[in-house]
Amino acid sequence: MSLNIAVVVGSIRKDSFNKQFAEALVKLFPGDVKVNFIRIDDLPLYSQDDDGSPAPEVTRLREEIKAASGVLFVTPEYNRSIPGVLKNAIDHASRPWGKSVWAGKPAAVVGVSVGAIGTALAQQHLRNVLAYLAMPTLSGHEAFIHWKDGLVENGEIGANSKEFVQGFASAFIDWVKKTA
Ligand code: FNR
Repeated sequence: MSLNIAVVVGSIRKDSFNKQFAEALVKLFPGDVKVNFIRIDDLPLYSQDDDGSPAPEVTRLREEIKAASGVLFVTPEYNRSIPGVLKNAIDHASRPWGKSVWAGKPAAVVGVSVGAIGTALAQQHLRNVLAYLAMPTLSGHEAFIHWKDGLVENGEIGANSKEFVQGFASAFIDWVKKTA
């Protein structure tokens, strides 16, 4: 059975570096891996009041995560943590209580930043959240990526970073196969 990878990008900015990086990274997955970029920019703000009557966008999110073999989070760092839009999406799909669609899905975390620490602190915060959500998360392959010219060229990972990013992509796919 071929894998279906959900990619959740934590930036909804039109020209997001994380989105550009994610689109280039998934090209390094084996050809039979299906990739689904998960839409999070149209989700309402999470309120527990709506657990019993979720918006159609929330139902769509839950169904797409349910169908995934694994989840790749590609996140910017905002004020040393993850952006609110990403946390909002995570919270939506974690509820109602006992019905989280994240549980058991193998995951990996990566991120791109213009800052020197390349989203290290945001990734660490996200790992805390994923641990609580019972998502087995790839370790030993940290990728704190500093955005610079040539990182992504014509939609592909640039030559200087290709081997490193390929190693991360391959380790994630192996992790999903082992864990899913
Ligand atoms: C940032 N940025 C940022 N960078 C960083 O390395 N550490 C940080 O804590 C922050 N904090 C932060 C807060 C807010 C509100 C914004 C808008 C930005 C800069 C960030 O790395 C840069 O804007 C990236 O380009 C954001 O990622 P996308 O949208 O290009 O994917």
